[in-house]
Amino acid sequence: MRIDIITIFPEMFDGPFSHSMIKRAQSKSLVEIHLHNLRDYSDNKHRKVDDYPFGGGAGMVMMIQPIASCIDKLKAERNYDEIIFMTPDGALFDQPMANKLSMVENMILLCGHYKGIDERLREHYFTSEISIGNYVLTGGELAAAVVSDAVIRLLPGVLSDETSALSDSFQDNLLSPPVYTRPSEFNGWEVPEVLLSGNEKEIKKWQFDKALERTKMRRPELLNG
Ligand code: ADE
Repeated sequence: MRIDIITIFPEMFDGPFSHSMIKRAQSKSLVEIHLHNLRDYSDNKHRKVDDYPFGGGAGMVMMIQPIASCIDKLKAERNYDEIIFMTPDGALFDQPMANKLSMVENMILLCGHYKGIDERLREHYFTSEISIGNYVLTGGELAAAVVSDAVIRLLPGVLSDETSALSDSFQDNLLSPPVYTRPSEFNGWEVPEVLLSGNEKEIKKWQFDKALERTKMRRPELLNG
């Protein structure tokens, strides 16, 4: 998989992409992440990427030219399955969306800023628009990092235990059951006995019952689907 991220703050990705599983996924060549500084694509001598909105109003709007130039250049080099705009008014990101994106070969993520991007870009360039939640961030960078992380960890070979992504919360519309590790007793708080029993069948049943109970209590809407 190849992910191209278009941003005015490429340094913001240093942290999320240089540790743990995402770092490993890159060093094992399971994913290539390419960061593009939008200002490098501006025709303006001051590397300007935003301008005042027609019709007035507060805030700046990201201009067509730098974004179009960057996307056009990438599209001339390879085919993209998805060209995605990160925006709070996009479709709400969830696990099925992550699963679907984990199947694509090449995708572009554009990180928005200010009051948004020129509407004509939205009409002509993007295959989808994604929001990571009903709140407004300072820009699309953290959202792009979240989407990349959720997608990359699903790529075959990224997680050491092949089955562990399948047993995640949300993969079958159930939250995960509680988990415990040693010691089996701490401050008098004990681990449920069935987990120490070695009875695989009983353990699986307990885990399923607990997952169902937790989902009913915390996220009943997941069970309605
Ligand atoms: N940019 C600003 N807020 C955002 C959000 N919630 N999701 C995606 N991109 C954003």
